[in-house]
Amino acid sequence: MDMVNANGEHVNELLQAQAHILNHILNFINSMSLKCAIHLGIPYIIQNHGKPMAITDLDAALPMLNPTKACNIYRLMRILAHSGFFAQQNLYNDAQEDGYVLTNAFHLLLKDNPLSVTPFLKAMLDPILTEPWHCLGTWFKNNDHTPFDTTHGKTFWDYAGHDQKLNSLFNEGMASDSRLVNSILIDKCKKVFEGLNSLVDVGGGTGTLSKAIADAFPHLECIVLDLPHVVANLQDSGNLKYVAGDMFKEIPASDAILLKWILHDWNDDECLKILKRCKEAISRQNKKGGKVMIIDMVLMKNEKMNGEAFNSTETQLFFDMLMMVLVTGKERQEEEWAKLFFAAGFSNYKITPILGLRSLIQVFP
Ligand SMILES: C[S@@+](CC[C@H](N)C(=O)[O-])C[C@H]1O[C@@H](n2cnc3c(N)ncnc32)[C@H](O)[C@@H]1O
Repeated sequence: MDMVNANGEHVNELLQAQAHILNHILNFINSMSLKCAIHLGIPYIIQNHGKPMAITDLDAALPMLNPTKACNIYRLMRILAHSGFFAQQNLYNDAQEDGYVLTNAFHLLLKDNPLSVTPFLKAMLDPILTEPWHCLGTWFKNNDHTPFDTTHGKTFWDYAGHDQKLNSLFNEGMASDSRLVNSILIDKCKKVFEGLNSLVDVGGGTGTLSKAIADAFPHLECIVLDLPHVVANLQDSGNLKYVAGDMFKEIPASDAILLKWILHDWNDDECLKILKRCKEAISRQNKKGGKVMIIDMVLMKNEKMNGEAFNSTETQLFFDMLMMVLVTGKERQEEEWAKLFFAAGFSNYKITPILGLRSLIQVFP
């Protein structure tokens, strides 16, 4: 029976509301527990063990722990098992104990996995990137461009240009994402590269994606255009060149332009400028054809969000907020994308949702 308290409120509803609030207040603990497990090297230890690992064996394999703290490792393991990063399997020993094994999600965090997401985790959960979240409320009331500016006194890109630690962390994080995208894009989307002789990867970072494209299509001349501090010490090789520059000023002439995780960093006016530079670059090379290839999210429509898998919707919304806190960008719904393309003078576009939360969007002059 639903009890009513002295104020006439339904006790069960109150308790449910409180549980919901507490869960959200403490949600950051999921990220921080994951970061800690990576920091201590727990996934590699479990993987090297080769069979389900008892908690006592795990404690013994972490010799760097302060002996008074080792007894707490089971608590870290318990929450990470709850959130799906470890599974428990019976050890079939006399004590009928359970041991820990890695789930698929954690396999993708192992540092020797070529597709590891760990560099992305390290970048996103570095205090330089998490501190600005404390300034989000202040930013809503002040004149700063982003909460990142409010916290650090400069834009994200300026900070990366002056701080080698952030520059490396961020470039490695981006490169790790590109390794995962490479394999899918090149295997599943060979056709999108057909007929192209040149491609500029605008804001292509240290060139992980372009290197893979250049290797897979040796006839394709590839250029990575990025800021000087990103491409400073990178060597050209074969059909891959690095160019230091500013995409708001000029993009080298080319049959195709690749924009992976670029436009979501910028607001609509800034995107319009970038897209116009892209259009100029392809029309200088190719009077009729050419295209822009965008890899970014296409956010679900509000009314569809509740029908989709909760995690996918939430992750897309997390990215949208991330773009508000770190840079001036946002995630866009199809109508918002289309408006930008037509305003920049393009005539048509095609969305192919092949990359999980992200899509390949081809835009034609
Ligand atoms: C989110 S990262 C994406 C990197 C890469 N495309 C990837 O997905 O792995 C954005 C990139 O844009 C670059 N960038 C920022 N401002 C730029 C500008 N004005 N001109 C050229 N590149 C710029 C950054 O240095 C960074 O490498």
